[in-house]
Amino acid sequence: MTPDLFDQNSAVAAVLALADGAVVLRRFALGRAEALVRHIETVQSQAAFRQMKTPGGYTMSAAMTNCGRLGWVTDRTGYRYQSTDPQSGEPWPAMPALFSRLAGDAACAAGFDEFAPDACLINRYRPGARMSLHQDKNERDFGQPIVSVSLGLPVVFQFGGLRRNDRPQRVLLEHGDVVVWGGPSRLRYHGVLALKPGQHPLTGECRFNLTLRRAD
Ligand code: SIN
Ligand code: FE2
Repeated sequence: MTPDLFDQNSAVAAVLALADGAVVLRRFALGRAEALVRHIETVQSQAAFRQMKTPGGYTMSAAMTNCGRLGWVTDRTGYRYQSTDPQSGEPWPAMPALFSRLAGDAACAAGFDEFAPDACLINRYRPGARMSLHQDKNERDFGQPIVSVSLGLPVVFQFGGLRRNDRPQRVLLEHGDVVVWGGPSRLRYHGVLALKPGQHPLTGECRFNLTLRRAD
């Protein structure tokens, strides 16, 4: 597959290769950022951000919600995808076409054709919130990549290896950056360091991350 780095909707400012099957597409989502944030606001009006509990009983520092046919949740009974919001019992808000289009375009630019996400986890980080190193492995098909979109305040992303103890690379993710990992990198450990205080013109004192995945 030849990565198509020049689709009509997105200019790639630069591509940073992290590993085989993993790239940062600098500013790939910049042109669509305002619309993405508006959609996040609509989603959160239907399915509010909440801080979920890990199976171990810790409260996650990032607040989360979802859109799409399936949403990722965690509570004392474990990590899973489900079609309804446990807080309301209602289906998650539909995935905006903009989200799936962006995810498909970014996957394609990274060399993964025909990516059709059915789940979008939306993380909201306020200063001090972080995500410790973990693997994304609640999905059915690890042949499908992960597309991760950064909006608002910058954060240091950690991208590790296939073993928890592999020393991670650190890369600053800024507004509009998109990370794609799949193929041999699909199960790499990753996370983000604590968000530093700041103000972003579009998101204020926070960072949003969209993680688009094919769960089922
Ligand atoms: C995650 O992949 O779990 C979140 C990473 C991020 O917020 O950039
Ligand atoms: Fe993750």
